[in-house]
Amino acid sequence: MKKVLVIGSGAREHALAQAFLRSKQVERVIVSPGNDGMTDDGIQIESVPVTDLERLRDLALTQAVDLTFVGNEEPLTLGIVDVFQKVGLSIFGPSRAAAQLEGSKSFTKNILEKYNIPTAQSVTVTSLSAASKAVDTLGLPVVFKLDGLALGKGVTIVNDKTQVSDYLSELYTRDSHAKLVVESYLDGVEFSIFSLVGHNGVVTHAPIAQDHKRRFDHDKGPNTGGMGAYSPVRWISDETQDRAISELVMPTIKAMSEEGTPFTGVLYTGVMLTKDGPKVIEFNVRFGDPEAQVVLPQYMGDFYELIDKLHQGKDVTPSWQKDDVYVGVVLAAEGYPESPITGALVPKVEDVAPLLINYAGVKNGMASGGRVATVVAHGQDATTAQQKVYDKIKQLITDLQYRQDIAYQAVQHENK
Ligand code: AMP
Ligand code: GLY
Repeated sequence: MKKVLVIGSGAREHALAQAFLRSKQVERVIVSPGNDGMTDDGIQIESVPVTDLERLRDLALTQAVDLTFVGNEEPLTLGIVDVFQKVGLSIFGPSRAAAQLEGSKSFTKNILEKYNIPTAQSVTVTSLSAASKAVDTLGLPVVFKLDGLALGKGVTIVNDKTQVSDYLSELYTRDSHAKLVVESYLDGVEFSIFSLVGHNGVVTHAPIAQDHKRRFDHDKGPNTGGMGAYSPVRWISDETQDRAISELVMPTIKAMSEEGTPFTGVLYTGVMLTKDGPKVIEFNVRFGDPEAQVVLPQYMGDFYELIDKLHQGKDVTPSWQKDDVYVGVVLAAEGYPESPITGALVPKVEDVAPLLINYAGVKNGMASGGRVATVVAHGQDATTAQQKVYDKIKQLITDLQYRQDIAYQAVQHENK
């Protein structure tokens, strides 16, 4: 029987741990640092932080872990895969060099341009005057992306000249050589592809998902880590999905090998479907949160076996369900994302059953962070799944806040 270590602490890592626990080969799942809400599922929580790579390595060694799966990007960009591999531990994820696809916007832009992979036109600059010139060339609206890992806060879309000068003068006053990617604005429909990339060129793709990043209904309010997601996205045709895979995802995987930084692990491609075809918006080197909570329960096979085979570079025959649509709604603390108020009572597994709940900011049964939990329902279509998830949430006694319109795009398409 196998032992798995999942690194991270959110609802995504809870969903990953559950996916491994469903495997008949897995006897124990450890999550570090995890959260209090996970212990009801028999998950073992350890308290090593995601940035303490040496202690995580020692944890995997002393607990005789067979496979480690990294949920969030920070340890990956710090090089956790390199640290584990050095002592012969099996870990599924990109090396430090390959994790630059998420960690460095300029690295990614260089790869995309060099290999002619469709993306927004961009210029990387390190001064105020060069940034202003780039805005003049690209036109408005324009997108500013800070180089380096921004944890969801690095992208700003600006619509007029005043916003441009406010943004640039603030940035270059703070740091006169700040590295900034200035990018043309792409208009279209956004969706995410999660590709599981193994060794020896073995690749498989999970069902696509759509995230809802803005805090309030109708995509209003500040950007957040994600307020809900649904999957699969049936109204985006198979042909479009295949095109995005063959024009964006596969050429990037090939380019990474040719550059001497081969990619393994989860490649999250943020796609904008424009009138000129699909284009890359961004890459992440891990599953999305909350997308993982709606994608992983769709895996009908043995998830441990899938990841183990990919890791060994063996052919896989993945089995994802196709009958239902999964809708996940994030319950967040009041005041999220600016200043979340902790202490609200968090619904228990039995309050939500038969629906699924994955926990994030939870301590002693109370909210301890911004995003607190994701509640997930599935049904024959998005309309049914959406109805189920909101019927349940409305019965819960809680001060937690949520969006009322997750999966609205699919519901609109279904009811046209
Ligand atoms: P990121 O922080 O890279 O995940 O980007 C956040 C969001 O900004 C994306 O999900 C898009 O909705 C938006 N975005 C990023 N780049 C562009 C672009 N070039 N054009 C339009 N929207 C963009
Ligand atoms: N849900 C967006 C992300 O995980 O980056």
